[in-house]
Amino acid sequence: MHKLTERYHSIGDFMKIEDVYALIKSDMDAVNDTIKRRLSSEVVLINQIGHHIVNSGGKRLRPVLVLLAAHALGYRGERHIDLAAIIEFIHTATLLHDDVVDSSEQRRGQETANSLWGNEASVLVGDFLYSRSFQMMVEVGNMRVMEILAETTNTIAEGEVLQLLNCHDADTTEERYIKVIHYKTAKLFEAASRLGAVLSGSGPDLEQDMASYGMYLGTAFQLVDDVLDYSAPGEEIGKNVGDDLAEGKPTLPLIHAMRNGTPEQAALVRHAIEQGGLDEIDRIREVIETTDAIAYTAQAAREEAEKAKAALERVPDSPYREALLTLAEFSVNRTY
Ligand code: IPE
Ligand code: IPE
Ligand code: MG
Ligand code: MG
Repeated sequence: MHKLTERYHSIGDFMKIEDVYALIKSDMDAVNDTIKRRLSSEVVLINQIGHHIVNSGGKRLRPVLVLLAAHALGYRGERHIDLAAIIEFIHTATLLHDDVVDSSEQRRGQETANSLWGNEASVLVGDFLYSRSFQMMVEVGNMRVMEILAETTNTIAEGEVLQLLNCHDADTTEERYIKVIHYKTAKLFEAASRLGAVLSGSGPDLEQDMASYGMYLGTAFQLVDDVLDYSAPGEEIGKNVGDDLAEGKPTLPLIHAMRNGTPEQAALVRHAIEQGGLDEIDRIREVIETTDAIAYTAQAAREEAEKAKAALERVPDSPYREALLTLAEFSVNRTY
């Protein structure tokens, strides 16, 4: 038996995030090889920007999900490697675009592509990555896979546009905010875990369970991202904190702070959303603190993570299922 398999069967303790990566190391090496190989283009600038963002690291969580979901449901083939790379290409494309829209200067501990090469180059290389992922999908040659990924990328785009409409709108409700994070973030997590299930051919019930798991996990993940934008404890996050306030993004910490603050506090937050910018960041942080807005958002993430875990009830026990449960914990407890 595999060493890790043995350990988690005999002790049944919780895995750590490092153990999750260790469990699928050879697969992840293959995914990273595929990513590097398929990045290449005859156009030098594409290679430069592509390698810049890919070599900066990143958690590779979405490809990890594809691999774990496929293994957890007994998949034995090789297609999961390409699908994992495709999912990471789509994610990377959205990051290139997102950093332009958000005027962000740091990503994965490095200067963003838009800072180094400009907005035009970032948008266009993002398009290259999107279309490369579609070429790779066609090579996989499975209509159901194409259907899922086409729908997913379309939904992500809708989410980004919906978010743009909410920007500087202090009347954005929690409901509208949740819709945005379902579309822009959770949908790709859902696709990643659903694709693992589709590959394994385990039937509609387990496919739906995996999809639900991904949707809940992704929602928790973005809620925590929005917490970390105000309260990341250290450098390891690799992004500038405060980007959301700078762009006037009405994320849940601010929505809650307006609901629960004094009229003066609510007015301060409202003004900050409407104006954008970081002039009032210290006072806004204080309001977030006194209204328990971070705790509220973190609690919402915790509830999503619990639902993610519950969605795996019918998935047979294995180290891969254990790893999926660990990812749910990680999405809530992470600091990067
Ligand atoms: C960043 O995602 C975008 C969000 C949905 C919050 P990640 O935090 O997974 O980014 P990387 O890939 O690890 O850099
Ligand atoms: C995630 O939202 C955007 C994507 C889905 C690409 P954010 O704008 O909060 O992501 P970060 O914080 O820049 O990584
Ligand atoms: Mg952003
Ligand atoms: Mg963010």
